[in-house]
Amino acid sequence: MPIIGELTEFYREEGIELCAGLAPNHADGLPWAPFTWFCRNGKSVTGNLGIAVQEIYFLEHVLAAFTPARALIIGNSMGWSTLALGVLMPHGKVVAMDMAPDPQMREGLALTNRIAARHGLPVRAVQGTSPQDVATVIDRELGGSIDFAFIDGLHTNEQVVRDYAAVRAKATPGAVFLVHDVALFDMHAGMTEIGKLAGRAPKLLLGTPSGMAILFDESAHPALARAVAAFAPPESAIKVVRQAAWDRRHRHLARWRRSIKKRVDRVRELS
Ligand SMILES: C[S@@+](CC[C@H](N)C(=O)[O-])C[C@H]1O[C@@H](n2cnc3c(N)ncnc32)[C@H](O)[C@@H]1O
Repeated sequence: MPIIGELTEFYREEGIELCAGLAPNHADGLPWAPFTWFCRNGKSVTGNLGIAVQEIYFLEHVLAAFTPARALIIGNSMGWSTLALGVLMPHGKVVAMDMAPDPQMREGLALTNRIAARHGLPVRAVQGTSPQDVATVIDRELGGSIDFAFIDGLHTNEQVVRDYAAVRAKATPGAVFLVHDVALFDMHAGMTEIGKLAGRAPKLLLGTPSGMAILFDESAHPALARAVAAFAPPESAIKVVRQAAWDRRHRHLARWRRSIKKRVDRVRELS
């Protein structure tokens, strides 16, 4: 069941206008245009953008193929991905933690809890910092091991490994780990390290705008493996698109060179 309309309505009720899913070509090539912007009175209320519409669509597929009981999110911001998981896990429990260092970010936690209460969602957003508060938050708020983690906190190679190690220590053996922004923030080294700790390689999802990565045991979750494959185009197909981009850029350069040459020739003729 698609959830984007319902999610958008949650924020409209709070007086927040969203701009979600804008292709970079509609915003002068801005790479983070596709993510979810929260606006009030013509201004963005936070720099911590929500996941993209295509990534909500991806979550719909993940949660259709796999039914976790307890999910932890690191990085709540305005609650966009937290509430999405809450809608997609009506019989589970979703807890999001955010270090929320300033009043505006703490309002993001309050907003998430307000919306969750109004719509009867199994969601709690709490203040806490990863990795040091992960175990306490899981024990206190979820009361058992998690089987799904969404990591979207501080985007550095060192931090993503710390986040993973902290959630892994409180996860079931068959747990699924999803990391946002791997390609966009070049966290490939961190994911390689996580792969070593887990004993299996994470899958990079270049079919998602931020280039998410997912880690799970494919033999334990065959339906999930099939859904995920649709968002992980094969390298040979990606090459075709990258080649088309290269050709386009250079055709443009060639056109530009031709036009300059024509002008120079014209000036020469006249002089
Ligand atoms: C990109 S935003 C998360 C967006 C959110 N997942 C969504 O889709 O709406 C990143 C958030 O991570 C939080 N954060 C950064 N480092 C953190 C840490 N070590 N522990 C907990 N939260 C952290 C920031 O305060 C920020 O709100």
